[in-house]
Amino acid sequence: MKSLCNVPPVLRMVWDSGRGVVLAGLVLRVIIALIPLGLLAVTRLIINAVVAHEQHQPLIHGFWWLVVLEFGLAAVAGLLGRGTDYCDTLLADRFTLHISIRIMEHASRLDLASYEDPIFYDKLERARVQATDRLSMIQAMGRVVQQAITTFSLAAGVFFYSPLLLGVLVLCVVPAFLGESHFAFLGYSLAHRQTPVKRQLDYLRVLGASKESAKELKLFGLAPFLSSEFTRLSQGIYHENVALALRRLRAGALLSLLSTLGYYGTYAWVVYETVIGRLSVGDLTFLAGAIAGASTNIQMLFSSFTSIADQALFLTDLVDFFAVEPTVRSKPNAQLAPKPVHTGFEFRNVSFKYPGTSRLVLDHLNFSLRPGWRIALIGENGQGKTTIVKLLTRLYDPTEGRILLDGVDLREYDLEDLSRQIAVIFQDFMRYDLTAAENIAVGEILNKDNRPRIESAARKSLAHNVVARLPAGYEQVLGRRFEGGVDLSGGEWQKMALARAYLRDAQVLVLDEPTASLDARSEHEVFERFAELTEGKMALLISHRFSTVRMADRILVLENGRIAEEGSHDDLMASAGRYSEMFELQAASYR
Ligand SMILES: Nc1ncnc2c1ncn2[C@@H]1O[C@H](COP(=O)(O)OP(=O)(O)OP(=O)(O)O)[C@@H](O)[C@H]1O
Ligand SMILES: [Mg+2]
Repeated sequence: MKSLCNVPPVLRMVWDSGRGVVLAGLVLRVIIALIPLGLLAVTRLIINAVVAHEQHQPLIHGFWWLVVLEFGLAAVAGLLGRGTDYCDTLLADRFTLHISIRIMEHASRLDLASYEDPIFYDKLERARVQATDRLSMIQAMGRVVQQAITTFSLAAGVFFYSPLLLGVLVLCVVPAFLGESHFAFLGYSLAHRQTPVKRQLDYLRVLGASKESAKELKLFGLAPFLSSEFTRLSQGIYHENVALALRRLRAGALLSLLSTLGYYGTYAWVVYETVIGRLSVGDLTFLAGAIAGASTNIQMLFSSFTSIADQALFLTDLVDFFAVEPTVRSKPNAQLAPKPVHTGFEFRNVSFKYPGTSRLVLDHLNFSLRPGWRIALIGENGQGKTTIVKLLTRLYDPTEGRILLDGVDLREYDLEDLSRQIAVIFQDFMRYDLTAAENIAVGEILNKDNRPRIESAARKSLAHNVVARLPAGYEQVLGRRFEGGVDLSGGEWQKMALARAYLRDAQVLVLDEPTASLDARSEHEVFERFAELTEGKMALLISHRFSTVRMADRILVLENGRIAEEGSHDDLMASAGRYSEMFELQAASYR
């Protein structure tokens, strides 16, 4: 049972999420666990006394107190049981909170590449789902402790009368346990194997009912296609599950028959011993109760154990997930980024392949970005423009070659400090379902309550006029996920995203397609300000619009992973190469 190796780390997580509650729960469980033995011992005394009384002997001294004691024990067991329920619920909530936060923290440190790896992504998804609703796991852990103690105490009682009796009982229950564990394992492997299909199913489910897909779904009439795919995939899963459940049913029935046989066999032996007078009626009651109690407790113990093992198997993903370490990270004692930057960035013979692919997206690329430069990067779709931004921001490290900042490899700098110097708005920037103010504040979250700064950033990016039209202004929740949310147009979202870049007081500004959705007038205004705002800083602009591109001081034309041409608009037009060709092509469509 390799899966059980995951129990200790998980126990540790449980312990970390609430020591006081864990201890309180344990103490209660130990007390409850010993009560059944106490009850049986008292019952034995009562019955022996009653039998003696029937045979015309006087009632033993304090007889009625025994009856009161029995009631007291039962009452205490009931009350403490509520207490453990309370502790379990508390602990489960704390565990969920503790784990969810740890998952978020860990996930944020991981490489971007990890997220693009479907196997890893499965793991993350499973870990995320499993973090919630762990009440049953916590309860199972508590039950194991309690049932183990009860079983041992009752078994000790049985052992006191006859060691052999105990041996027979144990032998009959063990096969049931092994069977249970075996099937728990099969169940997990099956669930594990089904994960990719389940991911496809989830995707179809989301696709079939999401805001993003609704438009195309209706107009292209995709619903029947989606539901037939869904049916096809889910039927495979259903058949596999049924087959396993059937096997489990057959084996489980046989094994439970065996343990019942063991229990009644020993019970018959005890009855026989009583009939021939070797045991008293009190002993009979005690033993019958202890055997019944021990065997049900052993069975329950095994099934709690299996359910932990079951959980532990699922928890493998959680443990595995925490074991994944990022490769893009700061070195120990990494140096801080230069402030201000002197000589700027330099790509030196940089080559890059995405992990798991073979195509060289960048091939021995060389270029510089110096303070005060405004560079425009152009190139056809898929030439690697966005990839260059990902390398510059260390979302990935180059496969070969080096990226230098003031002559020092980027990998030598502290990752967080480096990020602080760069403001990037990606082509596929996020549209947060948060308030307008928060949508801008994400650019520099420290400023989330600094309204004047947020407004000033919004003015620079023309987002202020967008916000002014919203019913609740900066407090307006954007997007349609939450009630009362207002959606924006593509260009309006882009202005909000641009404001994020301006909010960040960074030395480098990188805008990937910043004006793609802007109307002509907005684009013109944005760029008039852009020139002022980036005075003395480094700016990298990526655009397919030559109206934007020609405002840059230098233009780089990216082709086949290298810089094919470099120069100002006028230089490049004069040299009549790729740039002028592309420019003429776009210009021609306007004439
Ligand atoms: N995460 C990824 N994993 C694997 N390959 C990728 C990934 N992202 C991009 N690529 C590949 O890398 C190449 C360059 O992509 P990139 O996004 O840098 O292009 P681009 O120049 O920004 O294009 P566009 O003008 O369309 O924005 C593409 O051919 C693409 O297939
Ligand atoms: Mg791109």
